[in-house]
Amino acid sequence: MKIVNLGSLNVDHVYRVDRFLLPGETKASKGLNDNAGGKGLNQSIAAARTGSEVYHAGYFGSGSEMLRRVLAEAGVHMDWMEDHMDIPCGHTVIQVDDQGQNCILLFGGTNTCLTEDYIDRVLDQCTPDDMLLLQNETNLIPYIIEAAARRGIPVAMNAAPMDEGVKDYPIGKLRWLIVNEIEGAGLAGGGSFEEIMANLTAAYPQTGILLTLGSDGAWFHDGERDIRMGCAKVPHVVDTTAAGDTFLGYFLAGMLDKMDPAQALRRATYASALTIQSPGAADSIPTVAQVEAVMAAGTLGELAVQDNQA
Ligand code: RIB
Repeated sequence: MKIVNLGSLNVDHVYRVDRFLLPGETKASKGLNDNAGGKGLNQSIAAARTGSEVYHAGYFGSGSEMLRRVLAEAGVHMDWMEDHMDIPCGHTVIQVDDQGQNCILLFGGTNTCLTEDYIDRVLDQCTPDDMLLLQNETNLIPYIIEAAARRGIPVAMNAAPMDEGVKDYPIGKLRWLIVNEIEGAGLAGGGSFEEIMANLTAAYPQTGILLTLGSDGAWFHDGERDIRMGCAKVPHVVDTTAAGDTFLGYFLAGMLDKMDPAQALRRATYASALTIQSPGAADSIPTVAQVEAVMAAGTLGELAVQDNQA
């Protein structure tokens, strides 16, 4: 039983700014850090930091040295990664403002060069006991979902970053769909959180939905279980980058470990509350020991929970 993340990897070039650039403006930044990131890599590291067995699959391109090192240090298996040094690896330009909010410009690089042949070779090594994880930062997502479905491999997909093409993906074949409220509304329509969730569950009745709601917490719906979980109390937000990835990686690892969903969501919520108190992406993701310590200490407050079981 393992998580196989056919996922993205980026070098994040992170510029600290007091506020985001305006159109046409030139502005000095307050500092630059190059960090390991990418939604895929962050999610792999989050899941691995819970102790789960995680295989990351995809391509290393030129400039990937830091990404390789960070994955190795987190204990993520890289046996199925391929080197394509003639292609630059994915990267981002990220502005982080004084409130810790970010805006991200993405360059796909090797993340968007996957081939059907490579995907088939990865999937041939997976079993129906595994969980395949995808984000919308790689190419051939519809092909991957269909090919996994044919092999009986359950798939979890994070629809971020959302684009028009996502609507045409075979989402009904996913085991889990993870979206924020903007992505959820873009896919299924709706204004309020309630409408968005109702529309998603009606559109994809066989798919478990995890709707992430930023400072309003998260909403989980899977058949007979419906759980709304509030946010932790974070004294000072340093950088929100990778908060959603931490939440997702922790949640999915919990599901694979057959944790009660409410417990998995609770642990994931505290994990992402720790992530936003440190700068960077992968580097800011806590270990499970750090998360358990903060839960035991109660320093980030109790979470509001509505748990409806049939
Ligand atoms: O979710 C955060 C991530 O999104 C960053 O690490 C960046 O690489 C982008 O993929």
